[in-house]
Amino acid sequence: MKIIAIYSSKGGVGKTATAVNLSYSCARSGRKTLLCDIDPQGAAGYYYLINPKSNFNRKKFLKGDLAPFIRGTDFENLDLLPAHFSFRNLDLALDGQEGTGTELKRIFAGLKDQYDVLILDCPPNMTLLSENIIKAADLIVTPVIPTTLSILSFAQLVKLADKLEVKRKKLMAFFSMVDKRKNMHSDIIAKFGPKKMFLSSEVPYLADVEKMGLYRQPVAVSAPASSATISYEQLWQEVWRRGVQA
Ligand SMILES: Nc1ncnc2c1ncn2[C@@H]1O[C@H](COP(=O)(O)OP(=O)(O)O)[C@@H](O)[C@H]1O
Ligand SMILES: [Mg+2]
Repeated sequence: MKIIAIYSSKGGVGKTATAVNLSYSCARSGRKTLLCDIDPQGAAGYYYLINPKSNFNRKKFLKGDLAPFIRGTDFENLDLLPAHFSFRNLDLALDGQEGTGTELKRIFAGLKDQYDVLILDCPPNMTLLSENIIKAADLIVTPVIPTTLSILSFAQLVKLADKLEVKRKKLMAFFSMVDKRKNMHSDIIAKFGPKKMFLSSEVPYLADVEKMGLYRQPVAVSAPASSATISYEQLWQEVWRRGVQA
């Protein structure tokens, strides 16, 4: 089972949109896929019209008691583990366990025979939970809006990964919400795009992605022939190709 974390320390960069659309592409490619939402805001579940069961909570999650709380989606090969509101204190709970940073890895190990790919929709922070994510993931995909602050937060992730002695090959970034009419976007893409860790796929700023909040479906379902669908499909292909090599 490959674990792919969609992670950034910044909020609002397109993590959830990416997790939702890539999990759909992954499942469509025939791989048994679990989208696991660890952001207590629960947006991934919202997009797939799935609420957590009322008896789910952080304690059960930390125990690795996941199977009873995994829900099927409307799509073949795709299941979802919705986040629970109590996940907002996951950091504290991990800290309280005198965490070694490998708790998430242990929690997900129990799923390895049931799924080919586990995609994590992560909350925006840089804490012990992030260390857990970095250690548990085989691949870390970071959406980067072409702005200086977004670049800075990716640089901080690379620094953290180095500190944790995690292979840089695991990390990949792509430009998200790209608007080429903005000089800053074009300049930053020209400067950082050629770097090894950046994928060549980009996701432009597109109304169809924003409208996912209305239709509550991956763009490939609500707007199958759109640029948004093509962009996420290309992104998925590139992530998978690189992941196999990593
Ligand atoms: N490529 C895009 N084009 C237009 N809007 C986008 C795009 N990606 C995300 N959004 C919108 O931006 C907001 C933040 O995206 P989201 O995926 O929730 O970010 P995060 O999970 O990083 O906080 C949402 O309203 C979402 O619909
Ligand atoms: Mg999100």
